[in-house]
Amino acid sequence: MSSPALSRQEERAVSRSVDLQRLRADFPILRLKVNGKPLAYLDNAASSEMPQPVLDRLIRYQTQEHSNIHRAVHYLSETATAAYEGARSKIQKFINALESREVIYTRGTTDAVNLVMHGYGRAFLKEGDEIIISQLEHHSNIVPWQMLRDEKGCKLRVIPCNDAGELLLDEYESLFNARTKLVAVTHVSNALGTVNPVKRMIATAHSHGVPVLVDGAQAVPHLEIDVRDLDCDFYCFSGHKMFGPTGIGILYGKASLLEQMHPYQGGGDMILSVTFEKTTYNVIPYKFEAGTPPIAAAIGLGAAVDYLTDVGMENIAAWEHELLAYATGQMEALPGVRIVGTARDKAAVLSFVVAGVHPHDVGTILNEEGVAVRTGHHCAQPVMQRFGIPATARASFAFYNTFEEIDQLMAGIRRVQKMFG
Ligand SMILES: Cc1ncc(COP(=O)(O)O)c(C=O)c1O
Repeated sequence: MSSPALSRQEERAVSRSVDLQRLRADFPILRLKVNGKPLAYLDNAASSEMPQPVLDRLIRYQTQEHSNIHRAVHYLSETATAAYEGARSKIQKFINALESREVIYTRGTTDAVNLVMHGYGRAFLKEGDEIIISQLEHHSNIVPWQMLRDEKGCKLRVIPCNDAGELLLDEYESLFNARTKLVAVTHVSNALGTVNPVKRMIATAHSHGVPVLVDGAQAVPHLEIDVRDLDCDFYCFSGHKMFGPTGIGILYGKASLLEQMHPYQGGGDMILSVTFEKTTYNVIPYKFEAGTPPIAAAIGLGAAVDYLTDVGMENIAAWEHELLAYATGQMEALPGVRIVGTARDKAAVLSFVVAGVHPHDVGTILNEEGVAVRTGHHCAQPVMQRFGIPATARASFAFYNTFEEIDQLMAGIRRVQKMFG
């Protein structure tokens, strides 16, 4: 699939958004064949692929720049430190944070949510306090708050959703009371693709004096994110879902909140001074970055941000919109296939069930056709419970996907139906 033939529709879309052929050539993994078929990689919500400039940056770092950071005056340490801090500044600009000290490196979204649970929740919430989450959350934005609930005697309140997978905003408003201390909500649902109106939800929370954490894991690869425009208090995302490496993620937090918060882990680099009697903590962001961080991954994430900026988030959003509309139309026209999650505002996720066939069987047969989709509960079991199903198959798109790959998916589904029909 190094240079797939483009349909007329694709050519029209490409000429006004992205140069698909050129972009695909940047991703060596997309040239793979799987089971003798061209790979159609439609599992981007789980993890996306890395373009050559990111791979090159990792190799350059490891071969010419590697040393530990912040700790020495020699050439390599200074070079590695400059690259690591330079990546932080790129990420700051990418999400329009006010200052680079508001950008904290974590291991990923899960780690970022846990950091806030420990540093903010454990420090400031007490028995009887309430946290609002939604029915659309990934387990990583549920379980940490349950742990806090069980430890502190807090209460979780859940915003329900309708049959399309849209949050019920009237119900959301009615959940606030004097005990509400935090809202933690996903920007984009990984299981359904719903884009939640987080800006409006943040304004509602702030009118009650309540801070908001946004899980942006599925939003950052698809939408232009401006944390100042959203006015969120915390925003969490993962490098490996935005064409960067695994093992790195970001917690954005407003400086005023981060400064009050307690450290998450203790160790080197997060201190200013240590005696056996007393430790003075470092300033933000270092207060939250104990020990040697994943330096290469952070620098790789900076390169991924450069790449996304070059392509242009508005171009990415426009092309993915076309992909989603095309795939939705194809799937709606196929009898025996039901799309789960039909919100008006959706990002590039298409969850579906095939009548009479378990999603794992759907995934297995699609794999035989070279099509990679995810099957299961997508770490969002409460979403599955809401829709009364154990699992779905999920195709999730990135800007390097094509209509041709969607046709390959549809042909695979037709084969599933034939085999089980
Ligand atoms: C919405 C959402 N939140 C959080 C996560 C967890 O991300 P990570 O495993 O990178 O920490 C995911 C991963 O699929 C996700 O989709």
